[in-house]
Amino acid sequence: MTQEEKQGIVLPRHIGIIMDGNGRWAKSRGLERSEGHKAGANAFRTICNYGADLGIEYMTFYAFSTENWKRPPKEVRAIMKLFRDYLDEANSRESENEKRGLRFHLIGEKSGLPSDIVSRMEKLERGTADKKVMTVNLAINYGGRDEILHSVKEIAKEIKSGKMNPGSITEDDISSRLFTAGQPDPDLIIRPSGEYRLSNFMIWQAAYSEFWYSDIMWPDFTPDDLDRAILDYCRRNRRYGGV
Ligand code: FPP
Repeated sequence: MTQEEKQGIVLPRHIGIIMDGNGRWAKSRGLERSEGHKAGANAFRTICNYGADLGIEYMTFYAFSTENWKRPPKEVRAIMKLFRDYLDEANSRESENEKRGLRFHLIGEKSGLPSDIVSRMEKLERGTADKKVMTVNLAINYGGRDEILHSVKEIAKEIKSGKMNPGSITEDDISSRLFTAGQPDPDLIIRPSGEYRLSNFMIWQAAYSEFWYSDIMWPDFTPDDLDRAILDYCRRNRRYGGV
């Protein structure tokens, strides 16, 4: 994005991205699906760093859903290896993220993940807790319904212990018990690969999000595409149900 384009626009504070199309990208090149995920992980690195350079405050990347465990074990193993490699890289002092001041946060059910991935993730969360440039939510073993269920269970426990009253539950009470507690809702949600679904991604938080779709497969998604999505978003007029 040029300085000229950046002037006079209000950037979205929070962008969510559904990283889709890795498998088709690989198939169209006669490669294994795992090669598509590897290329997708590289696109993630590029877009994450570019978002921080632009001045986006929060980015959420949908990397693995609660439904993705249904994939062939070989593919799941390959994706888990990409997570391990990335987390090791991000945990290193010399990483690009470290230089940029990225803060990491896992959104997803830790209990269903391999313990070594959880410990790498927790190390990264602890190690970047004081960073302020951009918060990166990694949605791994994430499902929007599961997240709402998690919040509702917390509220039920507090009602049972007498700390909360059912009649006075507010939307904020639900929001503040989601994995994204304290963060603004996504202003813009991007889904490449020609699919037009939310696929259980941030379904509570997306109530007023703007959507941007494109036919590009995720591994081919570039900073120019992110610019296009942001500039389109900036031209829209958000009314939040008003006139
Ligand atoms: C969806 O594409 C993609 C996934 C389920 C995995 C996404 C994972 C990555 C991009 C790697 C992320 C890595 C890090 C380090 C965060 P698909 O396989 O459903 O594609 P298809 O619809 O073309 O088959």
